[in-house]
Amino acid sequence: MDGSPLPLVTVLTAPYDAQRPGTSGLRKKTNVFQNKPRYLQNFVQCIFASIDLRDRQGSTVVVGGDGRYYNKDAIEIIVQMAAANGIGRLVIGQNGILSTPAVSCIIRKIKAIGGIILTASHNPGGPDGDFGIKYNISSGGPAPEAVTEKIFQLSKTIEEYAICPDLKVDLATIGKQQFDLENKFKPFTVEIVDSVEAYTNMLRNIFDFSALKELLSGTDQLKIRLDAMHGVMGPYVKRILCEELGSPANSAVNCTPLEDFGGHHPDPNLTYAADLVQAMQTGSYDFGAAFDGDGDRNMILGKHGFFVNPSDSVAVIAANIFTIPYFQQTGVRGFARSMPTSGALDRVAKATKIALYETPTGWKFFGNLMDANKLSLCGEESFGTGSDHIREKDGLWAVLAWLSIIAKRKQSVEAIMQEHWQKYGRNFFTRYDYEEVDAEAAGKIMKDLETMMLDRAFIGHKFTVCEEEYVVDKADNFEYCDPVDGSISRNQGLRIIFTDGSRLIFRLSGTGSAGATIRIYIDSYYKDATKIFKDPQAMLSPVIKIALKVSQIHERTGRTSPTVIT
Ligand code: G1P
Ligand code: ZN
Repeated sequence: MDGSPLPLVTVLTAPYDAQRPGTSGLRKKTNVFQNKPRYLQNFVQCIFASIDLRDRQGSTVVVGGDGRYYNKDAIEIIVQMAAANGIGRLVIGQNGILSTPAVSCIIRKIKAIGGIILTASHNPGGPDGDFGIKYNISSGGPAPEAVTEKIFQLSKTIEEYAICPDLKVDLATIGKQQFDLENKFKPFTVEIVDSVEAYTNMLRNIFDFSALKELLSGTDQLKIRLDAMHGVMGPYVKRILCEELGSPANSAVNCTPLEDFGGHHPDPNLTYAADLVQAMQTGSYDFGAAFDGDGDRNMILGKHGFFVNPSDSVAVIAANIFTIPYFQQTGVRGFARSMPTSGALDRVAKATKIALYETPTGWKFFGNLMDANKLSLCGEESFGTGSDHIREKDGLWAVLAWLSIIAKRKQSVEAIMQEHWQKYGRNFFTRYDYEEVDAEAAGKIMKDLETMMLDRAFIGHKFTVCEEEYVVDKADNFEYCDPVDGSISRNQGLRIIFTDGSRLIFRLSGTGSAGATIRIYIDSYYKDATKIFKDPQAMLSPVIKIALKVSQIHERTGRTSPTVIT
């Protein structure tokens, strides 16, 4: 803190018209953030301006990202702007690295006013990839729609932003740095923290680390393979699974974070985590998991590549919830899933008489329920699983939850899953994604579908496929009324529910950066012991045929198959 106070500068700018945050923050091609003049600055200014000045003055904000290309540059700008916007203290992960769950954890732990996360999650990174910025509020969760809408409105009229251009922060060295600012009484503080420590301490209080250590490093140890896909999770996996829980070093793969994720999609699914699937198929490992770029998503695999559908994963955790010490202490307040997620969790909720909430797609909708003590465990079909320990989904938490179940039940992943289906029946589930469809064409497909579905004659309509008859029981555009604050979210997905309970859902993605992604979700329930072990694609084939027929998606997009099938 030597030399004269650093000057604060006001820079004139002009609005960009498309800065509306999507399902999870503002995501665009990296070059938009990097090359469009003041694009990042505008959005950051709007985030700060959305916080009431009285709350903002002297407050603490957490900052970190998944290490993708442009992460550090963006953080350097955010630091300069935070100082000029009255923030008193920033807590930043070393080298700008923090997983999304770790940001949520730290916000809650230090009672920060919020956090800024630099990530485009599972989207590819690098100069030709995607970049993103997301604002989380003081609960640690993604900003609710009222806040993102305010940010968007501000972005349409912004005229200037405030910055402290001479402030140079050292992101590499752990510890406090203080800066004297012009016309400010108090110095501005930046605290660089270990990226993994607070998060590890939190997990230690949730799980039984000694039981997990016994499982992973005891005489008859479970052989695991965890794939960080060159995203932010590398250091977390190494520190927690290998150093703390004693899993051998070679059980952690792709653990060096890379700015472009090695050129891959850091997306833990059967398509993009194919290497892990292959390694598991050799039979050399009992348990496998992969994480996405920012560490909130997870995919769980058993021996020989046995795939655990994420909708089933949350149901299994629910059914075995008291193997996790945290829930023994807090009890279980409620379960929740996003609307397109299969109804597997509903079966457990019913059997255990625990409340079940159905929310729109996106983790932000779970936050209010958790804050109101109505929700303990929730999940999405999109490889998101988590609990009220933080306000984000949490990939490593899900892995430790599964390992806790295995430690207690002493069964394989496959056996646990099979017993679950035998007890509760099975919701077969699949999702078809058509990525980078022309946005206008996609909008038209959805519009036409809605017109057809909402015609009253559609109710009772019979589809006969593969000698089976499916009768439409209900058709709507999903709407959610938040039970806590009464806010209403409309247009959350077109739903066709058949009389046998099968569901067919069409939705446009809100996280893409180019064109539109159309998602089709299918869920059918079977209890019959002769059916529950069959192949999902075969079991779902009649409803898939109905989906393709009513949407005419192949004819209208020129595609012959989806980009990704889950
Ligand atoms: C996708 C998933 C959704 C998840 C979100 C953020 O959003 O479908 O469940 O919460 O990513 O990870 P979408 O692209 O469908 O809007
Ligand atoms: Zn993510």
